[in-house]
Amino acid sequence: MVGKRSKVLLVGQGAREHAIAKALKRSDLELYAFMKAKNPGIAKLSTKVKIAKLNDYGALEEFISDVHPDFAVIGPENPLAEGIVDFLQDKGVESIGPMKTNARVEASKSFTRELMKKYNIPGIIEFKVFQPDSKDQDIIDYINKLGKVVVKRDGLAGGKGVKLMGEHLKGIDEVVAFCKEIFQQGEPVVLEELLVGEEFSLQCFVSGEDIISTPIAQDHKRAYDGDQGPNTGGMGSYSAEDHLLPFIQAKIVEEAKDIIKKSAKAIKEETGQDYCGILYGGFMLSTKGLKLLEYNVRFGDPEAMNVLPLLKTPLIDIFSAMIKKELATLKVEFEQKATVCKYLVPEGYPVSPKKEEPIDVAVEKILNEGADLFYSSVSELEGKIITTSSRAIAIVGIADTIEQAEEIAEKATTYVKGPLFHRKDVGTKALIQKRIDHLKELNIL
Ligand code: AMP
Ligand code: GLY
Repeated sequence: MVGKRSKVLLVGQGAREHAIAKALKRSDLELYAFMKAKNPGIAKLSTKVKIAKLNDYGALEEFISDVHPDFAVIGPENPLAEGIVDFLQDKGVESIGPMKTNARVEASKSFTRELMKKYNIPGIIEFKVFQPDSKDQDIIDYINKLGKVVVKRDGLAGGKGVKLMGEHLKGIDEVVAFCKEIFQQGEPVVLEELLVGEEFSLQCFVSGEDIISTPIAQDHKRAYDGDQGPNTGGMGSYSAEDHLLPFIQAKIVEEAKDIIKKSAKAIKEETGQDYCGILYGGFMLSTKGLKLLEYNVRFGDPEAMNVLPLLKTPLIDIFSAMIKKELATLKVEFEQKATVCKYLVPEGYPVSPKKEEPIDVAVEKILNEGADLFYSSVSELEGKIITTSSRAIAIVGIADTIEQAEEIAEKATTYVKGPLFHRKDVGTKALIQKRIDHLKELNIL
């Protein structure tokens, strides 16, 4: 078919958005990037870029009246929570990404928990919402009822709003003190039962009640090898060639998909708005069965880098079908390959990261190794890549097995020189065995 090239507006500037950009540009289309800072990888793939704060709607309006995109793709959660999709729709631009009311499944933990309860969705965790005027005794009574709890700030907190009892919070007093700290900011707290098990990420394309799943992946939140050190935005992730994980079977993935499908239906019933975008469930296979820990209204970062490079179906076709509400008619295929993603981050990250250091990236060597790379929080100055204080570059190995993909990714990391570090154990046999043994010890496997 001879038609005009699609024009896609991409909002966001991280490695996740670089992965979206690369997957889109495998088709013949024009990409327009709206970014807070210039991601050199995305800029290279774009017809035009606009650098502005993502909530600068004036700049956004100017950009869309200049380029007239066919639709927009919103990468990160903050603009979604703030209603960028509502704004764009008002200006006649449809988006891949939920409207503000539906973005609450990530932006409000209490909204999601109440929704799951009301619509009787499996995978729900025992929980209670406490308002800022709650009495200490009520909190204490609830902790005593559950034994160990997890304390969650209701709103978006960039992964820093969750504390686990026994790990970050020693006893009941510390739990109460943390709740009060959140109350002082005028926000409610969700207390829920602390579960044990293994986590995995299931990212789905959702359009109304139609969902298409992508291969599951496992992220690594801790900064250092052996799951040690502080929590981060994610240090790396892997996925397997059978699109399962060595400790997560097909039956469990089907259960997780069912939870996402029921949630998409419930969201529509509750808000009256179709959900159009990515719905990513953070699941745990726990001693109490499969549980949903959280929803995200976007691809995972790093997990986007595990699934998007495997797409055999053009991403533009999937997004177009979502917008036209024709997702159910589309067959989406992924390569039967394993992936391992390792994030190179500044020394000292996440506590006291080195900033603005030049790094040397031998792109050709990385590609020749069979790996791919995605820029995250870096800038470019006179042809040099410069770090910021956050994750710098994601390297992804793709192969027939996790073991081979890990070797490729590890080798490729040597072609980036500078004051950076990464987790050497992501995707290794030893670490995966640790996950298997953990579930065996818990009598789950
Ligand atoms: P969330 O932002 O809700 O996904 O929480 C961040 C991380 O905290 C999760 O990836 C888990 O590692 C941990 N977590 C959250 N909820 C629970 C829970 N109920 N039990 C145990 N760990 C949890
Ligand atoms: N991988 C964690 C996240 O994207 O939220």
